[in-house]
Amino acid sequence: MKDAGYSVALFPGDGTGPEVLREGEKVLGALAEGGAAPWRLTTYPGGGQYYLRTGREWEPEAEAAARSADAILLGAVGWPGASLANGDLAGRALVLGLREGLDLYANVRPCRLYPGVRHRISGTYSEVWSPRNVDLVIVRENTEDLYTPARGRLTRAHETEVAIDTRIITRKGAERVVRFAFELARHRDRGAPADGRKRVTCVDKSNVLEGCRFFRETYDRVAIEYPEIERDYAYVDAFTQWLVRNPERYDVVVATNMMGDIITDLAAVLQGGMGFASGGNVGTDHAMFEPVHGSAPKYAGKNQVNPFATFFAVEQMLRWLGERHHDPRLGRQADRLERAIAGVLAAGTARTYDQGGTTTTSGAGDRVAEAIRSEGR
Ligand code: IPM
Ligand code: MN
Repeated sequence: MKDAGYSVALFPGDGTGPEVLREGEKVLGALAEGGAAPWRLTTYPGGGQYYLRTGREWEPEAEAAARSADAILLGAVGWPGASLANGDLAGRALVLGLREGLDLYANVRPCRLYPGVRHRISGTYSEVWSPRNVDLVIVRENTEDLYTPARGRLTRAHETEVAIDTRIITRKGAERVVRFAFELARHRDRGAPADGRKRVTCVDKSNVLEGCRFFRETYDRVAIEYPEIERDYAYVDAFTQWLVRNPERYDVVVATNMMGDIITDLAAVLQGGMGFASGGNVGTDHAMFEPVHGSAPKYAGKNQVNPFATFFAVEQMLRWLGERHHDPRLGRQADRLERAIAGVLAAGTARTYDQGGTTTTSGAGDRVAEAIRSEGR
């Protein structure tokens, strides 16, 4: 517990990132009213647009702040035409760079459908899933697999002949993320919506890939330590259809990095779309939280995008800080925020365009801030 408060480094980044992060600051401000907020926020520039202006992805002091902060809140990075000399995404330092550099090995993506949230398929709002059957968390390995910088091209006479990405699965990488998933399942109170069972599903392609066989063996070894949690297995291809058909079977899901990247976007559809999907990049000593929708250049500057993913990212951050520092104040603030979010969603008074409404980004932030205030502390 830190009496002086926790330092939070904010990286708004590109496109709609600054717009949603501003709303994140707004709800943090509402939580802090009337008492000393146990956090200090500092904002740093960086990302693809910054790179286009300055030739640097961020400044050395921003990087140092990310390393020393108690937590990081990221808007989004990526901008059309902004790429580094080697072809990489300009701004990668802020997302992939921090995942690697701070060893944020678990990417935690809750997928819950809140009452009042609509999900859209083929342009119409459907009710195929209900809040009663969507409440799971996908834990994605976040530091290795196809994302390890072990790649390159083979060129002959200035022409690319071969492009290679190497998939690396290590014992340490697999073991710690699987253990993270089991610990999470142990501490989640509800279990899978279908039967209330605590269950960790290992998603892989171990019928074909060696790395996946190793990942599954590691899962089996760790699972022995958690006899009260049900073991469950799915090949990733089959998993995509089971997730859509029977999301209520799932409690915690663990996957390797690239497969986890893909299945979490699919899962976002079940929770109302990318506008509601948040992620925590969690390591032992550091963590970074973000809405996972990206910079959405098309909507930048329009005050239109859905800021709820950012509110959920803030909630995740407060919970993590509270647990990490054994500080119950943060957990209480996370609960207040979640109640305010859930209340506004249920009332349907802050529907942005993706939800068929006309509420603006800042309007949705106002609604949630008001809900925090009106409930009091
Ligand atoms: C995500 C994103 C990133 C990833 C991109 C922006 C590099 O898609 O967080 O899921 O691939 O991990
Ligand atoms: Mn992704």
